[in-house]
Amino acid sequence: MSELAHLGPVELFTPRFDESLAFFVDILGMDIEAQDGPSTYLRGWGDYQRWSVKLTASDTSGMGILGLRAWSPQALERRVAGVEATGLGVGWTEGDLGRGPSYRFRDPDGHVFELYYECERYLAPEHRAPAHKNVPGRYTGRGCAIKRLDHINLLASDVRANREFCVDTLDYRLYERIELDDGSEAGAWMSATIAAHELIYTRDAHRAHGRLHHVALWVDTREECMRAADIWVDAGIPIEAAPSKHAIAQGFFLYGIEPGGNRIEVTTGGRFVYAPDEPAVVWTERERAKGQAWGVKTVESFHTYGTPPVDA
Ligand SMILES: [Fe+2]
Repeated sequence: MSELAHLGPVELFTPRFDESLAFFVDILGMDIEAQDGPSTYLRGWGDYQRWSVKLTASDTSGMGILGLRAWSPQALERRVAGVEATGLGVGWTEGDLGRGPSYRFRDPDGHVFELYYECERYLAPEHRAPAHKNVPGRYTGRGCAIKRLDHINLLASDVRANREFCVDTLDYRLYERIELDDGSEAGAWMSATIAAHELIYTRDAHRAHGRLHHVALWVDTREECMRAADIWVDAGIPIEAAPSKHAIAQGFFLYGIEPGGNRIEVTTGGRFVYAPDEPAVVWTERERAKGQAWGVKTVESFHTYGTPPVDA
C-alpha cells in the first residue's frame, strides 16, 4: 500500500466566481458546505470529508492548493521528512476547513500541495441524512449529481521530473506513461490506490509552470456521464470532448470548460490494478496517435489548453 490514502480536496481559482459557483451547484449538482471570504467549499453527495472542491474568487483561473491525505500520522511524518529532504518543502500550515495541520510543499513544476492526516468526516444534517449508514449523504439527483472528487491532471514542463518526485518522495505508484520517440516523457498516470489514475502529469505544450489540465469528478455510471453532456449542452457549457472511453486507464469521460475557464471532467469507470507487481504500461507516440479507446481522435485543444492562461 502507498503511504498516501488518496488525493484531495482541491482548490480552484476562478475569475468569474458567481458563474463558476452556479455551474458547480446548479449544473454539476454539488452542495455548498461553507463559505469563507472569497472561497466557497463544495461537496459531492458521496464525499466522506466535508468538502472536496474549494472555489476561490481570483483574478485568474487554475489550481490553488491540492490536498493529499496520508494513510496515518506516522505516514504523514515520513512523507514530510522525505519532502523536506528534497528542498521543496514550504512548511506547516494550520490546514483548512475541517482539516488539521498540513504540510505545504511544491512539486518540481511549482504546483502547491498540502499533505495532511487529520480531517473531519461529513455529518449529514437530518434533512440530508441517507437511508443507509454506509454512505455519507443522501443522493441529491440535482444537476449532474456529482458523487465525489476523483482525479487531477496537472500540466508540467518536465513530466519525468515530477513523476519521479511523486513516486520516489510521495510514494505514488506509477501505472501508465507515454514516452515519445525522442525519449521524452509526455504523460504519467499515478495512483495511491488501485484506481488506475489519481494524479496525472501531462506535458505543458507552452512549457509554462504550475498549470492545471483538468479536475475530474465522479459519477457511478456511463449513463450519468452522457446525461451530464445533455445537461451541459442545454446550459451552454462548452463541451470539449463528448463522452467516450480513454485508452489510457480505460476511464469513461466527458470534458468541458466551466465559466471560469478551468477544464472539468465528469468521469466513471477505469481499470483497477490489483497486482502488487503490476508493470507500468508504456505507450509509444505511434500508439497514442491512434486516439482514444474506440478510435475517437483526441481533440487538439486537449494537448494545448490549460489554466491559468499562459500569458497570466
Ligand atoms: Fe481525467
